[in-house]
Amino acid sequence: MGLVSGTGLADFGNQVTCCDIVSEKIDLLKQGEIPIYEPGLKELVDRNVQSGRLSFSSDIESSIRNSEVIFIAVGTPMGANGEADLKAVEAVAKTVAQNLDSYKIICTKSTVPVGTGARLHAIITEHAPQGAEFDIVSNPEFLREGSAVKDFLIPDRVVLGVSSEKAEKIMKDVYRPLFINETPMVITNIPSAEMIKYASNAFLAVKISFINEMANLSDKVGADIHTIAKAMGQDGRISPKFLHPGPGYGGSCFPKDTEALVHTGKKHGVKFQVVAAAIKANHAQRNVILEKAKELLPDMKGKRVAVLGLAFKANTDDVRDTPAYEIIKGLRAAGAEVRAYDPIAAANMKSFFFEDLQTFESVNETVKASDLVIVLTPWNELRGLDLEELKANMASPNVVDARNILSVDQLKALGFNYRNVGRSKV
Ligand code: UDX
Repeated sequence: MGLVSGTGLADFGNQVTCCDIVSEKIDLLKQGEIPIYEPGLKELVDRNVQSGRLSFSSDIESSIRNSEVIFIAVGTPMGANGEADLKAVEAVAKTVAQNLDSYKIICTKSTVPVGTGARLHAIITEHAPQGAEFDIVSNPEFLREGSAVKDFLIPDRVVLGVSSEKAEKIMKDVYRPLFINETPMVITNIPSAEMIKYASNAFLAVKISFINEMANLSDKVGADIHTIAKAMGQDGRISPKFLHPGPGYGGSCFPKDTEALVHTGKKHGVKFQVVAAAIKANHAQRNVILEKAKELLPDMKGKRVAVLGLAFKANTDDVRDTPAYEIIKGLRAAGAEVRAYDPIAAANMKSFFFEDLQTFESVNETVKASDLVIVLTPWNELRGLDLEELKANMASPNVVDARNILSVDQLKALGFNYRNVGRSKV
């Protein structure tokens, strides 16, 4: 998020220095390498480095002193009890304070719970030289992994939580190309901006859990969740987006942001019953997929199961909170021999979760002599799977399509035993 935002801001005409305390990352970037997989990012970085608007530095202190606006884009992982862990954000605030040699805006891009702006104000006041001038701004990001570049350059809206006219004017200038382009700008106070991010993510998470439960019922009664979601989406009040059923949401945002919101509610004596239920349903959805696998292969002991797709969604190498983790764990617990494939995320899956996971370079190798195939990530490559070839490679033709990307007609015609999410009996 930091790299995409920094690069995007440079593309908007600003002079940007991207900093990190992990100097290896900065070294890689200086050599023109991108430490994450994000489509379109390399081209954008190259273009802005060449134009002289974008640079990278491990010298955080002088970069702060040379800047007028400092974006905090560090991680806010899930801490104990589900609350957001703000250690990194607070550490940055302290460093900024110690280098506050002129008026600066300190702007949070990291997802931070409501009230953080006020907390940062207090930290900076405490550690900055006396009389130092600054403003806090909240500018939450809405970037989706895999389409982050596009989301930054052509956003649905820009949210700016400000507490002074001066800060508002400077921030509008930072986003000038979008401002003159008539991209909607929501200018509000800091607590509202902080809440907009959580409200948006939690709402989308609720939509996903909602459609997943609808899909689970559809499976029992012979209804088609695709038709249901499409018809629901034709109601302008609902919108067709985020109504794709699957193995439940994962990634670096929804799981932690929903937990953090429930936690913030508790702190203020407000119950978030709907969001809490969405979290619970999301955990249960991993099991729904495992149950489908067990329906097709009741005794998994010694059976070979191929998992296709490890990333939490397509077009990313991110495996944080990926459904594949719990599903592979469940398959192994049932005695299955798991073989796995992902075009990008296999190395991450091994280094973060299963050092001993057998991964392969191609779908064909992965599915060889398998008794069951489970499709977990909707990579385009998997959408176009040759089902005839798949069947020929497998020991028995059992498929769980957890993303509904395979043709039901073809699966039927080829004699597969299959399950999907909300269309199994269609
Ligand atoms: C999300 C938000 O969309 C973005 O605005 C925010 O700033 C960061 O978090 P991201 O986590 O990258 O982005 O991915 P997103 O496309 O939102 O998907 C999140 C999860 O929900 C994935 O696991 C995805 O597979 C799942 N999902 C999404 C569904 O299961 N069904 C859907 O209809 C949509």
